[in-house]
Amino acid sequence: MKKVISVVGARPNFMKVAPIYHQSKYAHFKHLIVHTGQHYDYNLSDSFITALDLPKPDYFLGVGSGTHSQQTARIMIEFEKVCVAENPDLVIVVGDVNSTIACGLVAVKMGIKLAHVEAGLRSGDRTMPEEINRIATDSISDYFFITEEDALANLRKSGVPEDRIFFVGNTMIDSLVKSLPKIEESKILKKLALKPKEYVLVTLHRPSNVDNKESLTDFLEVFRQISKRTKIVFPMHPRTIQRIKDFNLDYHYEQIDGLIITEPANYIDFIKLMQNSKMVLTDSGGIQEETTFLDIPCLTLRTTTERPVTIEFGTNILITPDKDLIIKTFNYALDNPIKRKSIPPLWDGNAAKRIIDIISQKILC
Ligand code: UD1
Repeated sequence: MKKVISVVGARPNFMKVAPIYHQSKYAHFKHLIVHTGQHYDYNLSDSFITALDLPKPDYFLGVGSGTHSQQTARIMIEFEKVCVAENPDLVIVVGDVNSTIACGLVAVKMGIKLAHVEAGLRSGDRTMPEEINRIATDSISDYFFITEEDALANLRKSGVPEDRIFFVGNTMIDSLVKSLPKIEESKILKKLALKPKEYVLVTLHRPSNVDNKESLTDFLEVFRQISKRTKIVFPMHPRTIQRIKDFNLDYHYEQIDGLIITEPANYIDFIKLMQNSKMVLTDSGGIQEETTFLDIPCLTLRTTTERPVTIEFGTNILITPDKDLIIKTFNYALDNPIKRKSIPPLWDGNAAKRIIDIISQKILC
């Protein structure tokens, strides 16, 4: 029997891999899950495994945090041992995190076929670690599963043969669609004493936004201003919590009336919070897609996006993270909420089925 390994490592990987794993139960190959341990906190890892009905990973590499090179290198050393022991026919990596490129490199150096899910996205900003991971992973992959048409153009431009690219849709949206009944049951609004549509949801963790004091101080002012008009719910990433402490800003953040800071939310609660918010402010990648699907206005606090379909079809507006500009745009967007034009093509909850069909009929046949 043929064997496939899917890699998860960091929070955004779980919802991309889960539908592929579930769909593979109907396929004629053995499917193993390897968790690199890039994210290890319960809130960033295990809570997602539970929420998405994933099994305990077959291998947990436990690499943890470190510099990018340390983390990437440790993942490579450990993942190579797994590949030697299991000798898979195909490795599947998703997204753009360090685990993606690290395991991709191991596969290609061992002559194992490599499939990249969410391939071809480009922000054009090489200062983002994720952009380097995307370019590098796409340069070594054999098969490219893409979520939007811009990815097709990007891959064509870099010379990828057409018959290796498969426009399948978005497995993250598969997870969202499948989880809707559970999301309906979430008690998070009650727990935080919130009513639907009385708050905006914020996430912030990108190094360019949180790794310096000036920027985090500017956001303090942004939240002060915004909180005059609405409650704010801010599930905080461990990196952001740490930086706020490092820069002695925690006292100031705690003083803002109406700013509700919580631990990172589990997947189900987070989507519930998103679905019932007036607007989302974020610097994340995937959240731009989820808000587009749910038709919730999204202000993305970055200068570029690798997901242009969320602007073209969806609810996403890019804003350079400048204090005054954010406040001005926020006020405008609150009074004039942007509506989705349409759900992007193939974001229909069936992307994983297309992927498994292609793997079964074209890759492992
Ligand atoms: C990573 C991804 C990013 C993704 C994000 C989602 C890369 C390059 N970046 O960023 O694309 O949007 O995950 O969360 O792969 N930490 C904990 N507990 C954990 C994990 C991390 O406290 O379980 C802390 C550590 O102090 C660590 C820091 O967060 O040094 C950053 O973690 P890391 O995995 O390096 O990158 P993220 O910022 O989480």
